Amino acid sequence: MSKKSAIMSTYGRMPIAFSHGQGSWLFDTNGTKYFDALTGIAVCGLGHAHPAVAEAINRQANKLCHCSNLYQMPLQEDLAKKLCQVSGMESAFFCNSGAEANEAAIKLARLYGHNKGIDKPAIIVMENSFHGRTIATLSATGNRKVQAGFEPLLSGFIRAPFNDADVLRTIATTNNNVVAIMLEPVQGEGGIRAAEPGYFKAVREICDRHDWLMITDEVQSGNGRCGRYFAYQELGQTPDIVTTAKGLGNGFPIGACLARGDAAETFKPGHHGSTFGGNPLACAAALTVIERIEQDGLATRAKTLGSRIRQQLSQAFEGSDYVKEIRGLGLMIGVELTSSCTELVPLAQSQGLLINVTQDRTVRLLPPLTMSDEEAAHLVSTLTRLIKLYAGDDRQQPR
Ligand SMILES: Cc1ncc(COP(=O)(O)O)c(C=O)c1O
Repeated sequence: MSKKSAIMSTYGRMPIAFSHGQGSWLFDTNGTKYFDALTGIAVCGLGHAHPAVAEAINRQANKLCHCSNLYQMPLQEDLAKKLCQVSGMESAFFCNSGAEANEAAIKLARLYGHNKGIDKPAIIVMENSFHGRTIATLSATGNRKVQAGFEPLLSGFIRAPFNDADVLRTIATTNNNVVAIMLEPVQGEGGIRAAEPGYFKAVREICDRHDWLMITDEVQSGNGRCGRYFAYQELGQTPDIVTTAKGLGNGFPIGACLARGDAAETFKPGHHGSTFGGNPLACAAALTVIERIEQDGLATRAKTLGSRIRQQLSQAFEGSDYVKEIRGLGLMIGVELTSSCTELVPLAQSQGLLINVTQDRTVRLLPPLTMSDEEAAHLVSTLTRLIKLYAGDDRQQPR
């Protein structure tokens, strides 16, 4: 008998519940095991139940979970220093999610503009981007589905096509209100599309020429997933503002907006805040996550595994007429099919593999950075078999 849920129906949920996880694997309430190639959408980069993270949370919970940002917070200081060290940024604001980190970045850019005498600051944002579900971040997002029904949207955003520097140059000649360009180095919800290095360099140059802030949203691409601590490091340009969340706490909610140069000094007391942001428990978890990413060489590992997986998938689908492109950076991997493939998600689940599809036809893989070579091989062989089965490719090898 189906019982009506007391949860608001903001999600279309799969009929499955997980009781626990271990490393790269999740276990449902019936005890069935699944390879987690999604990691809660790029959250559990260190896998599930990581002993060092569990120990850090446990230790800190027994000491002090929370105290207000009205007091000094030594663990928050330590985390800010650590994040600045791995990113090249100079200061950090802490919050609890990706959307909040982007809200902070948007507020910071607007204030930066006001301080320069721009009354109506505008931020250039990209088509097919995703920045969150709050009013400001959904207004910045380049997807009508996310915005529909929530109008009036926030003004102050100018939309540009991704990977097109000429449009940015044109906007620069016609609009004096621009204060920043905000982009994902690798668009996640937009179908795993990386910024081309030449375009990324042009964005940096245009921002420098016009005294605009370059903001990179690394909520999905950061924390080692794309081959360096942040994806912009792999693309060779340093932004003025970086946002992060998801993988930073490996499941413990935490977000941060990092900045350098003038942007690092823009917020003053009273400009922004968060009750929970950067509390001792969240900081203890995040400090351990960064320590493990660094000490275990997980960013390099993500790079090696990512290129191997992409290469093996490319080989497996060479000459096929149903796989259009295999792309990505590190362990943000997209397999674009030539037609809709949303039904692959339940099919994969029935075969013990958790994946996701974005933009209707792109299989998205965001597996743990900690997976073994054998697990990576398991992912490739399972996914290959499933896509072939789905596409009705009878050249498929028997299981
Ligand atoms: C690039 C990017 N920015 C922002 C967000 C929003 O993060 P959150 O759901 O933690 O608010 C997401 C979430 O998918 C994202 O992928």
